[in-house]
Amino acid sequence: MIEQLADHEAAALAAIEAAATMEELQAAKTAVLGKAAPLSEAQRRLGSLPPEDRKDAGRALNAARKVVEARLDARTTELAEAERAAQLVAERLDLTEVPTDVTVGHAHVVTQAWEELEDVFTGMGYRIAEGPQVETDWHNFDALNIPPGHPARDGFDTIYVDHGKPGSTVLRTHTSPVQIRTMLTEEPPIYVVAPGRVFRADTADATHIPVFHQLEGLVIDEGISLADLAGTIEAFTTAYFGPGFSSRLRPNYFPFTEPSAEFDVQRPDGTWLELGGCGIVHPNVLRAGGVDPERWTGFAFGFGIDRLASLKFGIDDLREMYTNDIRFLHQF
Ligand code: PHE
Repeated sequence: MIEQLADHEAAALAAIEAAATMEELQAAKTAVLGKAAPLSEAQRRLGSLPPEDRKDAGRALNAARKVVEARLDARTTELAEAERAAQLVAERLDLTEVPTDVTVGHAHVVTQAWEELEDVFTGMGYRIAEGPQVETDWHNFDALNIPPGHPARDGFDTIYVDHGKPGSTVLRTHTSPVQIRTMLTEEPPIYVVAPGRVFRADTADATHIPVFHQLEGLVIDEGISLADLAGTIEAFTTAYFGPGFSSRLRPNYFPFTEPSAEFDVQRPDGTWLELGGCGIVHPNVLRAGGVDPERWTGFAFGFGIDRLASLKFGIDDLREMYTNDIRFLHQF
């Protein structure tokens, strides 16, 4: 019987080795260790052996089963690993391949204009200044030579914020309060531009939107004149729009500049579009900003970034820029 056991063991190991998949291995396991397996049959025959042989045969049988079981375990691990590796290869995704029909997003047309303008002005030696969108009425009006009751306040369609004393907090109606904040924190000479969001209680139409963007410019230095202002406006419009565009100043009134002007840009087709306001900083505004008007003079200008972008790209309705129709935005 012990000799037979050696044959059974060898046959069992060969069957295990031959299994190439987990399924085949499962079948082999039943064949070599199941009820009908030669080793199990030998087990059942143990009882009929003479008592003196039974002990050695039993030991040999156990040893054979152990060898077979160990080989089964090892083969199970081997096949599981192989199957897992095959699965990984089969399910592999090539993430390095960029599909060509996916479009990549880009900055909004107004953001593009904002950033280009920053580039133009920093290229001319200006720094970027900032101020809060929720502003005190003092910075937004009083300090800009618009005292309470001044008719110019009505022209701004101000949105008030319910904070502090009634009427004391506003959503800034223009970027001009940044002039005051800059003068109060910096010593002249000052060369800054302040792009930012502004708010007016306007009904939206083709040329107005209640939330829009302006870019303020402020220069304070010795001996600044209207000629410097006109030259600066001409320089930035040609830098931003390119050749074929030009600018002009038309006399106007703003409480915070004296003299004041409106500036227009001429399109290559000869037509003009009003872009913003400008002028020589009023002495009262310099004083409110803590700047000595006897020594320093300056100019300021402010215009709508949204309107500038619409002019450059020939967009004839400002509202189009904010309905966020991707087919529209995609063009710019
Ligand atoms: N703040 C003015 C406006 O919003 C524009 C302006 C700025 C005019 C600076 C003169 C000087 O209409």
